[in-house]
Amino acid sequence: MTYNRLASRSFRWLALPVLLLGGGSACSGPPKDPFAASQQFLASRPIYEQPLADGRVIPEGLPSLSAASCGSCHSEIYAEWKVSTHAMAWVDPQLQAEMTKSENRWLCQNCHTPLQVQHAQLPLGLTDNDVEKPRWATNPHFDAALQQEGITCAACHVRDGVIQGPTGVKTSAHPTAKDEIFLSADLCLRCHQAVAEYPGKTFTCTFRTGEEWAAGPYKNTPCQGCHMPPVERPAATGAAPSTGHRHWFPGSGIPKIAGIAPPKGVFPPGVSAEASWSDGKIRLQLSNSQAGHRVPTGDPERFLLVTVIFADGSGTELGRQEERLGQTWEWWPTPKKLGDNRLAPGESRELTWDPPPGTTTARLSLGRYRMTEEAAKYHNLADYPLGEVYWEQQLVAPGP
Ligand code: HEC
Ligand code: HEC
Ligand code: HEC
Ligand code: HEC
Ligand code: HEC
Repeated sequence: MTYNRLASRSFRWLALPVLLLGGGSACSGPPKDPFAASQQFLASRPIYEQPLADGRVIPEGLPSLSAASCGSCHSEIYAEWKVSTHAMAWVDPQLQAEMTKSENRWLCQNCHTPLQVQHAQLPLGLTDNDVEKPRWATNPHFDAALQQEGITCAACHVRDGVIQGPTGVKTSAHPTAKDEIFLSADLCLRCHQAVAEYPGKTFTCTFRTGEEWAAGPYKNTPCQGCHMPPVERPAATGAAPSTGHRHWFPGSGIPKIAGIAPPKGVFPPGVSAEASWSDGKIRLQLSNSQAGHRVPTGDPERFLLVTVIFADGSGTELGRQEERLGQTWEWWPTPKKLGDNRLAPGESRELTWDPPPGTTTARLSLGRYRMTEEAAKYHNLADYPLGEVYWEQQLVAPGP
C-alpha cells in the first residue's frame, strides 16, 4: 500500500526567511549550490512539504549536532529519546519499505528526518509538476550519522546555531533561547496534523490528531502534558535539580524494532475495557478515558481489535467474534475514506454478543495494531512488530 502522510499547519519556525544564496536555476544544468537551490524550490511548496530547519550551524561550544553528543551531558533525556519512536523515525522498516515504492520520498524525509542536512538527496524541482518525479541533487552538507537519528534533539531544539527550549536557562555549555512553542501543541502539530491530497495519486495524507484533540475535552492540555510528563532531576550533568520532562514520547507502545521501546507501564493505554455477562449477553464496555484524541490516532492503518472466544465446559471452542475499531480506506483508484468507528476522546461504547448455546466461558481480549499481516506481507516486513494484545478477561456463565 502506498500512501503518505503530510501535515498542514502554520508554524513559526518556518516563517524564518529562506536563504537564497545564489542557487542556480534548477532548469539550467546542475546548480552551483544545490542546498540553496533546493531551499528555493521547497520555499515554493506548502509548509508540510518543507524541512523544519537546515541544521548547518552547530551551536558554539558543541562538537556536533548529534543526539549522542547532547547525551554526554543530558544523559537521562538521551536514554529516553533513544528508545522513542522519534529516534526510530528514519530506521523504521515500514518507512524504508514504503520509500522504495515511489520517488515521493522527498516528502517523507521532511518529517521523518526534519533537518535538511539529514537528506542524502535534495529535490530541486518537479518534472511535469509531478510529486513522484523530483529532480534530485546530491546534498553537499549531508550528515549520514545524523540521518540515522530520525527526529533528533536538534530537530526540535536547534535553530540557527542556538539551542531553543522552554525556559532559555543560561549555561556556559551552549547558547540558549526561550521559545514558548515548547509549551504548545503547535510544536507537535507541525508534523502530527496532516491533511493533503494529491489528485491522480494513490496516496494521500490524513493525520488529524490535532483536529481530534482541538475538538475534544483535552484541548487545554497540550500534547506535552500527557506525552512528556514532568520529572524532578537535573537537566544536565552537574546542573541543579529542576522540573524536567520525560522524552520517551510514548504512544501505542508498539515498538518499531522488537525490544526497543519505552519501559512497559510508563504510559497508560488510551482505551480501557471492562467485561461482564448479564441478561444472557456478553458485554464489553470500552472507554477512551486516557487519550486526548481518537484511539487509534495518526496513521489510518492503525486499529484496535476486540476478540471474543466462546467455549463449552470441556474447553472446546464454539465460535469467535471480532470487532475492528479503526478507519477504513479504499486506496485505488483514488484514496477515499469509507468508514471510521474509532473512539473519540472521553467516549464510552458498549459492545454486546449473544453467546452460542452451550457456552460456559467467554474469553475476551483487546489489542492495538499498526497494520494487518497482509499489509506487512505486501511490504516484506517479516520481523516488524505489528501490535499486541494488552487486555484480557475470562468470563464464566453466571449461575442459573
Ligand atoms: C557540555 C554539556 C552539554 C552539552 C554537550 C549539551 N548541553 Fe544542553 N545544557 C547543558 C546545561 C548545563 C544546561 C543547563 C541546565 C540547567 O541549568 O538546568 C543545558 C540546557 C539545555 C536546554 C534547556 C534550554 C531551556 O530553554 O530550558 C536544552 C533544550 C538543551 N540544553 C539541549 C541540548 C541539545 C539539543 C544538545 C545537543 C545538540 C545539548 N543541549 C548539548 C549542558 C550541555
Ligand atoms: C518533525 C516532525 C515531528 C514533530 C515535530 C513531532 N513528531 Fe511525533 N512523530 C513524528 C513521526 C514521523 C512519528 C512516527 C515515526 C515512525 O513511526 O516512523 C512520530 C511519532 C510520535 C508518537 C507515537 C509513538 C508510538 O510509538 O506510538 C507520539 C506519541 C508522538 N510522536 C508525540 C509527539 C509530541 C508530543 C510532539 C511534540 C512535543 C511530537 N510528537 C513532535 C513526527 C514528529
Ligand atoms: C519532538 C521534539 C523534541 C525532541 C526530539 C527532543 N526534545 Fe527536548 N524538549 C521538547 C519539549 C517540548 C520540551 C519542553 C517540555 C515542557 O516544558 O513541557 C523539551 C525540554 C527539554 C529540556 C529542558 C528540560 C526538560 O526536561 O524539560 C532539555 C534539556 C531537552 N529538552 C533536551 C533534549 C535532548 C538532549 C534531546 C535529544 C536526546 C531532546 N531534548 C529531544 C521537545 C523535544
Ligand atoms: C489526555 C492525554 C493526551 C493528550 C492531551 C494527547 N495524547 Fe496522544 N496519546 C495519549 C494516550 C493515552 C495514547 C495511547 C493510545 C493507545 O492506547 O494506543 C496516545 C497515543 C498517541 C499517538 C500514537 C498513536 C496511537 O493511536 O496510539 C500519537 C501519535 C499521539 N498520541 C500524538 C498526540 C499529539 C500530537 C497530541 C497533541 C495534539 C496528543 N497526542 C495529545 C494521551 C494523550
Ligand atoms: C507532515 C509530516 C509527515 C510526512 C511528510 C510523512 N510522514 Fe510518516 N508519519 C508522520 C507522523 C506524525 C507519524 C506518526 C503518526 C502515528 O504514529 O500514527 C508518521 C508515521 C509514519 C509511519 C509509521 C506508521 C505506524 O503505524 O507506525 C510510516 C511507515 C510512515 N509515516 C511513512 C511515511 C512515508 C512513506 C512518507 C512519505 C511518502 C511519510 N511518512 C511522510 C508524519 C509525516
